[in-house]
Amino acid sequence: MAGIPVIIDTDTAQDDCVTILLGLLDPAAELRAITMVAGNVGFDQQVANAHLTLNVAGRLGDVPVHVGCRAPLLREWASAEDVHGDGSGGLSMDLSRVHNDDEHAVNALLRLTAEAPGELNLIAIGPLTNIATAVVMDRSFASRVRSLSIMGGSNNGRGNVTPSAEFNFYVDPEAAQIVLDAGFPDLRIIPWAPLTLRDATFARPEYDRLCALGTPLARFFRRMCDATIDYDESVGVDGSTHPDSLTLALLLHPELVRASAPYRVDVETASERTRGMSTMAWAKFGLVPNAEVVEEVDSAGFYAVLQRLLATPTEPSVPIAGLD
Ligand code: BDR
Ligand code: CA
Repeated sequence: MAGIPVIIDTDTAQDDCVTILLGLLDPAAELRAITMVAGNVGFDQQVANAHLTLNVAGRLGDVPVHVGCRAPLLREWASAEDVHGDGSGGLSMDLSRVHNDDEHAVNALLRLTAEAPGELNLIAIGPLTNIATAVVMDRSFASRVRSLSIMGGSNNGRGNVTPSAEFNFYVDPEAAQIVLDAGFPDLRIIPWAPLTLRDATFARPEYDRLCALGTPLARFFRRMCDATIDYDESVGVDGSTHPDSLTLALLLHPELVRASAPYRVDVETASERTRGMSTMAWAKFGLVPNAEVVEEVDSAGFYAVLQRLLATPTEPSVPIAGLD
């Protein structure tokens, strides 16, 4: 049986890699394309990280990788290299046979949704520059997307790049607002706080258990996530954070959602102090909702999804230096 058709829009480093693995290997998913957007680390390094991830799953060349917007709409690119390093985990491979699709990511989003209107599910786990550009280029784009799941913002809670802003919304707040205003028929938001910090952050002993599963994927996971867990622990976050893979897991396994509600979500674009902060207005305010915000998930169930994924035996398509 065919899986749920998915496109992952990503700034590939750390948990973005886990999300791509889930899209490739979870039997519930059918990963149709990867679209790259500026975010976590240097753009070309992100693209290399995406191919490295395809490779470790034994799927190099199987899914098209489309290079997208190399900078936010209006702002200077802000990196998260302080959090993730360069996102390669010290791994490397021969990239000479690796091929990016010739089609720009935004054109790919427009074409793929035109070829299969109402079928494709977008998983947006980086800044929203590509998705916003697709919206602006073709105002019927949103209506052709079956669902859009966004990892971004906080539910009136703390940020991670400033006191009030989460990284994906902070990097390109104008893009985020364009997407929130675009009328996507099924828009879901998976926030950083409190959801990710409470339900999708795994403390050191649980993290170590995942790393010790004894497969190439588990070794890869450790390489990809070590820098981030070290950083997070140094700033008072108790464990390895998995908001991006949670975003896809909830589409594939909706029974993991324990609570969600409709909200009117907006992003601050005018202030410097609160740039990228999300306001999420619940029913009391009588505003027309534009998103379903996930409030609570089955954390143990999500951990089991990661465990199953990382226990999957795979053989890299070409050798990966450092994967021992
Ligand atoms: C988000 O920022 C990135 O660093 C992560 O991949 C995630 O998408 C969390 O704020
Ligand atoms: Ca990301």
